[in-house]
Amino acid sequence: MMNAKIIQLFILQFIFFVVCAALLGSCLQTDIISSSSLIKDPDTIVSHGNIFKLGFFTPKNTTNRYLGIFYTFSENIVVWVANREAPLKDSSNTITISKDGNLILINGKNQTVWSTNATTSPMNTTVQLQDSGNLVLLDNVTGAIIWESFSYPTDVFLPTMKVFHNITTGKKTLFSSWKNASNPGIGSFTMGIEACEALNITQNFIWKNHRPYWRSGPWNGQMFIGIQDMFEGHLQIITFVNNYTGVVYATTTDLVTFLTKLTMNSSGSYVQTMWIDERKSWDTVWLAPKTECDVYGTCGSFGSCNAQDSPICSCLRGFKPVNKEEWERGNWTSGCQRRTQLECDQGNNTGGDGFLRLPFMKVPDFAKQFSSRREDECRNRCLRNCSCIAYAHDPNIGCMFWSGSLIDTQRFAGVGYDLYIRVSASELDSHKSKKLFIIIPTIVAFCCMSIFTFIAWCWIAKKKGEKRKDKRTFEARQIFFPDSTAIVLKDESQKVNIEELPLFTFETLENATDKFHNNNLLGKGGFGPVYMGKLENGKEIAVKRLSALSGQGIDEFMNEVVVISKLQHRNLVRLWGCCAEKEEKLLIYEYMPNRSLDVCLFDPTHPSRNILDWTKRFNIIEGIGRGLLYLHRDSRLKIIHRDLKPSNILLDEEWNPKISDFGMARIFGGNQDHAITARVVGTYGYMALEYAMEGRFSEKSDVYSFGVLMLEIVKGKKNTQYYNQEWSLSLLGCAWKLWSEGNGLAFADETIVDSNIEEEIMRCIHVALLCVQEFPKDRPTMLTVLSMLSREIVDLPRPEQPIFAEKWNDLHRGSTQSINQVGLSVNEVTLTVLDGR
Ligand SMILES: *[C@@H]1O[C@H](CO)[C@@H](O)[C@H](O)[C@H]1NC(C)=O
Ligand SMILES: *[C@@H]1O[C@H](CO)[C@@H](O)[C@H](O)[C@H]1NC(C)=O
Ligand SMILES: *[C@@H]1O[C@H](CO)[C@@H](O)[C@H](O)[C@H]1NC(C)=O
Ligand SMILES: *[C@@H]1O[C@H](CO)[C@@H](O)[C@H](O)[C@H]1NC(C)=O
Ligand SMILES: *[C@@H]1O[C@H](CO)[C@@H](O)[C@H](O)[C@H]1NC(C)=O
Ligand SMILES: *[C@@H]1O[C@H](CO)[C@@H](O)[C@H](O)[C@H]1NC(C)=O
Ligand SMILES: *[C@@H]1O[C@H](CO)[C@@H](O)[C@H](O)[C@H]1NC(C)=O
Ligand SMILES: *[C@@H]1O[C@H](CO)[C@@H](O)[C@H](O)[C@H]1NC(C)=O
Ligand SMILES: *[C@@H]1O[C@H](CO)[C@@H](O)[C@H](O)[C@H]1NC(C)=O
Ligand SMILES: *[C@@H]1O[C@H](CO)[C@@H](O)[C@H](O)[C@H]1NC(C)=O
Ligand SMILES: *[C@@H]1O[C@H](CO)[C@@H](O)[C@H](O)[C@H]1NC(C)=O
Ligand SMILES: *[C@@H]1O[C@H](CO)[C@@H](O)[C@H](O)[C@H]1NC(C)=O
Repeated sequence: MMNAKIIQLFILQFIFFVVCAALLGSCLQTDIISSSSLIKDPDTIVSHGNIFKLGFFTPKNTTNRYLGIFYTFSENIVVWVANREAPLKDSSNTITISKDGNLILINGKNQTVWSTNATTSPMNTTVQLQDSGNLVLLDNVTGAIIWESFSYPTDVFLPTMKVFHNITTGKKTLFSSWKNASNPGIGSFTMGIEACEALNITQNFIWKNHRPYWRSGPWNGQMFIGIQDMFEGHLQIITFVNNYTGVVYATTTDLVTFLTKLTMNSSGSYVQTMWIDERKSWDTVWLAPKTECDVYGTCGSFGSCNAQDSPICSCLRGFKPVNKEEWERGNWTSGCQRRTQLECDQGNNTGGDGFLRLPFMKVPDFAKQFSSRREDECRNRCLRNCSCIAYAHDPNIGCMFWSGSLIDTQRFAGVGYDLYIRVSASELDSHKSKKLFIIIPTIVAFCCMSIFTFIAWCWIAKKKGEKRKDKRTFEARQIFFPDSTAIVLKDESQKVNIEELPLFTFETLENATDKFHNNNLLGKGGFGPVYMGKLENGKEIAVKRLSALSGQGIDEFMNEVVVISKLQHRNLVRLWGCCAEKEEKLLIYEYMPNRSLDVCLFDPTHPSRNILDWTKRFNIIEGIGRGLLYLHRDSRLKIIHRDLKPSNILLDEEWNPKISDFGMARIFGGNQDHAITARVVGTYGYMALEYAMEGRFSEKSDVYSFGVLMLEIVKGKKNTQYYNQEWSLSLLGCAWKLWSEGNGLAFADETIVDSNIEEEIMRCIHVALLCVQEFPKDRPTMLTVLSMLSREIVDLPRPEQPIFAEKWNDLHRGSTQSINQVGLSVNEVTLTVLDGR
């Protein structure tokens, strides 16, 4: 009896305790510190969407305490440290807001250990930890940001951060490494950007003890041209903003739709990692420097580094080591010098100096820039000026010139820029004669071999009594013989005959395109410019030029040839031939007079925008669908395109769509239905979540891209450039909202709106929403999609809301919103991170 009562009491107490704890817990789950609150170690504050936490932590192998920001789901990853140079000795510490409005950190002895130092006079302020990881100090009255941790980063760059270089004052946002894993103090490595406005060139740098340690090469508006991965389709998450007001900054592109961060670590690696929820781990997606060659100036001035060579350093052509013994011992620091003095230096300005072309280069440091679209102008300007010792050209940057010494050049494997270096005439001659010296014996040997082979071949052929075509095979990654008639990819079973595929000579194509004149430029594909050409017989062709500069490797070239030569369908572009001579690789297609869908659809000034009425647009949607179905099902192979987007949809004279660009397509064998790749290539805005985040692709990831494409065709707006300010919604979100409200016409492009087609437009949006659902298994196959569009299937299932599209928009806005607005939206938006579940 007594016992039972005690137990009852105990249970009651226990319940009371649990309820209290829960209540307390929910009260403490705040993202705000106000003047009245006191956060005592080990209390924390948590950002609204439960992504980041601000609190105290102890690094490994030490007892020191620090105040920092870390991920709620991965607490050992610290992204910011307040008192990095002033460790706390015990855990009797508090954070609060001082009378003057600063956020302060006080130790057990009531000493201020750290302060935001932002205000000096009494002020009412609030501190908030945002979902972006930014800790902001806000003025209670105006809501203005007085101080933010994003302006005082430690070693981690988070999406939406801005990395400034204020050219007027020389001030930079710098990320500095920890001293070591147990000491967050300022270490030896620093990362930042260096913009030179006068030269109009911006680079990303790592400095080691204030000296350059790694360099990204100049930013060309799309990528850093000194990072090999960037040529190979690595996702570029950084973009620059320069409005020529003396301030340049780097920030993340809008396309960052996953949890990622860039860390300057204490051993000098600048590492980008990405959170993989399934594995609950951070995966490294990119890092620099990768090889010894990436380390700044490894080979000294006028030296060139090649990671594939041994030894890695060599002198540029026409140069010799300053100190031969040292160089041979592997100490390359003193670099190289000219073998023959320039005529220019001897006062002969008109003399016979010339330029040697070095292909596939990372361009040297300290470029001077001059805007010019034309490459030959670079040459002339450089030749006229004796101090100009090298030049290179990029269509976006213009000409780049160098003087003084050439430092930190590197030879990449099959990608990079042509660097032209000035050498004296005698060097040019010796180079030529050396070439001849090699060429002549080669030719003689070749002739002898040929004659011998020919005789042998005649003999065999005669003996066999049959006339067969000479079939040669070769390996991908090896040399491309211009006259080969078959391709072998890795093994015989994947052999493809390209016998029927005509091989064009480079000269024919040069003549057809007027030497690849800019006037004939049709556009820029993912991997190279496309020119219009006219063959001598009057036939019009489109020529894609995948030169070294374009960055498309032999793999993609081969891939495209292999994939497309096996396919034939009216909604796939036809390949007419190819050409591979020297470093040039070209693909010849049928010419499409109406160019590509993005030109016709998104350019408001384009005359054909009005021609694309609803009937044509619907026809285009169905055509793309049929092309895709053929790829997935009807051809002998199962092919996943992986890069479906408007610029890859070409239109013939009757506006029939044709899918193009198979450089990234993958062929699936037998029963394979999905694959995982470590190298995610594609275009953001069209990539399904599972592909962008985990590299998992299947026919359903193509279906996702097709869904986005459908919405774009209906709306006449590009997914990545559309944002509805009024509702704060993306294209997908907008489609969802208006479709749910039954108001499909309001979503459609104004130029096609007509109440007769309302039902059809609603149906299209409905099917598109089914295609862009989060889970691949929920998305229909292309066969179902086509049946739905043609009304063979009448009742459509209800799609799930495309949440993914909204999540990150919310997060991004969260980081710039003032506290008042956040207050309002507390109950409306449920912020779920990708980790949320
Ligand atoms: C901590 O100390 C142990 C033993 O000295 C060492 O093995 C370990 O690597 C250290 N950990 C870190 C993170 O420095
Ligand atoms: C801590 O110091 C402040 C001023 O420096 C003082 O106002 C406050 O009373 C002190 N608190 C304690 C607990 O000593
Ligand atoms: C704040 O200012 C004080 C005095 O000027 C200085 O000693 C301290 O290092 C500053 N703290 C920070 C975090 O900048
Ligand atoms: C801060 O707020 C309090 C009450 O909310 C007010 O009495 C005080 O004047 C304010 N101080 C300043 C500097 O605005
Ligand atoms: C400032 O605003 C926050 C939230 O709006 C509030 O909790 C706090 O009491 C305010 N502080 C003062 C001094 O008015
Ligand atoms: C850059 O420096 C100038 C000159 O001091 C200053 O007026 C401007 O506010 C600074 N800009 C930024 C973004 O820091
Ligand atoms: C980290 O650096 C501190 C200061 O430089 C040093 O005292 C400590 O031994 C280092 N710890 C490790 C594990 O290297
Ligand atoms: C810098 O280059 C951009 C294009 O990359 C161009 O628009 C701008 O006018 C250039 N500015 C200067 C000062 O040369
Ligand atoms: C240029 O950048 C500065 C600093 O970010 C910004 O304050 C200013 O509004 C920008 N000007 C234009 C014209 O975009
Ligand atoms: C820095 O990153 C590189 C590459 O991921 C790694 O090998 C190295 O161990 C890291 N250093 C530290 C101190 O974490
Ligand atoms: C390499 O050569 C430079 C210049 O002569 C010298 O200062 C340096 O100590 C040498 N380094 C090594 C590792 O021998
Ligand atoms: C300059 O070089 C040109 C071409 O090599 C030569 O014809 C001319 O004589 C040289 N002039 C002088 C002053 O050396």
